[in-house]
Amino acid sequence: MPSHDEILKSLEVVIDPELRRSIVELGMVRSIEQPGDGVVNVTVSLTTPGCPIRNHFETAVAQAVGGLEGVTRVGVTFDVLSDQEKSELQRKLGRGSLPEGALAQVANVVCIGSGKGGVGKSTITANLAAALAADGKKVGVLDADVWGYSIPRMFGVAGRPPVSPERKIVPLESGGVKVMSIGFFVEEDSAVVWRGPMLHKALTQFLEDVAWGELDVLLVDLPPGTGDVSMTLAQLLPQAKFVIVTTPQPTAQKVARRSAEMAHKVNLEVAGVIENMAGFVTPGGERFAIFGEGGGQDLADELDVPLLGKVPLTMPLREQADAGEPLVVTDPDDPAAQGIRQAARGLLALFPVELPVLQSAAAAPGEGAPKPVGMSLPMA
Ligand SMILES: Nc1ncnc2c1ncn2[C@@H]1O[C@H](COP(=O)(O)OP(=O)(O)OP(=O)(O)O)[C@@H](O)[C@H]1O
Ligand SMILES: [Mg+2]
Repeated sequence: MPSHDEILKSLEVVIDPELRRSIVELGMVRSIEQPGDGVVNVTVSLTTPGCPIRNHFETAVAQAVGGLEGVTRVGVTFDVLSDQEKSELQRKLGRGSLPEGALAQVANVVCIGSGKGGVGKSTITANLAAALAADGKKVGVLDADVWGYSIPRMFGVAGRPPVSPERKIVPLESGGVKVMSIGFFVEEDSAVVWRGPMLHKALTQFLEDVAWGELDVLLVDLPPGTGDVSMTLAQLLPQAKFVIVTTPQPTAQKVARRSAEMAHKVNLEVAGVIENMAGFVTPGGERFAIFGEGGGQDLADELDVPLLGKVPLTMPLREQADAGEPLVVTDPDDPAAQGIRQAARGLLALFPVELPVLQSAAAAPGEGAPKPVGMSLPMA
């Protein structure tokens, strides 16, 4: 018979489709009992008694535990988390600091970071966003580089964002991408000093007071390094994924690893690596590995995550970043644009597939369930 720990381990594959984490990690496995004869009884604690995804849990738990050697029957029962347990769960999810529903319509959050500056995070973020938008996705970009913001320039947007009647800041749009940056609120090129609580407040506002609306993905352009901003965001966005941009030389890889360590420390999931400045091809077709070779793959292997793409150095990528229109839009065939589009596809592949949730089971008839429409048929 499997041990208690083995059964618990097997339950790690049971994911809460709303919170997108395993029921083990969420502390929703109340008890595991083994009365004998290969029987295992599991009690799962739900957030609400009428939880519409009960059936999903029942099937998934029975399947996971039933697959263990020696288990003949799996009993699944449910109870409800106490108020204290619920607030603990809230805290674990980091939802405490963002009001409920602030980013409810944002399906995926991806932070783009690197150990050191100037490796092309902002350029890659802007172009990834444009590539995803070209692919029909609803995309937003939050420029979290509050000291060295460069996203407005790369998207060619400026000016003060309007405020909606609901008193939310409306992001500016460029090529179908919603963009928000501290750069919209300060005098051009003025130095901004944000520290401690002010910084926390500014970032919180960008997440909760901005009308992001419905988004498939919100990309967050981080400042270089592993400082305050990353920490604050990790706290505010525990569900975010982290993508590391690195250049190909081994020394850069070492620095990039530090940002992975930071991500681990604050429990952000490192989802992939993008290698930028991967070689330069002359118009004559000669290739120079200006910044070395292979660092992205090595880092990805070391972290056991996919290398989402390799983006070569090309002049148009830099020119377009300066001109304010992402290269993937103006010249999708440029080798750098191709590399970024490939990375965008890789990124999409990382997102969880939405599980259909049966909402109708949640409301009993007469309690907000849609009333049948049409006329009744004459019955014999
Ligand atoms: N693959 C590339 N080919 C050509 N130029 C590039 C490439 N990637 C980035 N650049 C250029 O390198 C410079 C730095 O890029 P970028 O500002 O995106 O880096 P960053 O990592 O965001 O920097 P920071 O750490 O300061 O935020 C920019 O001028 C950009 O246009
Ligand atoms: Mg940048």
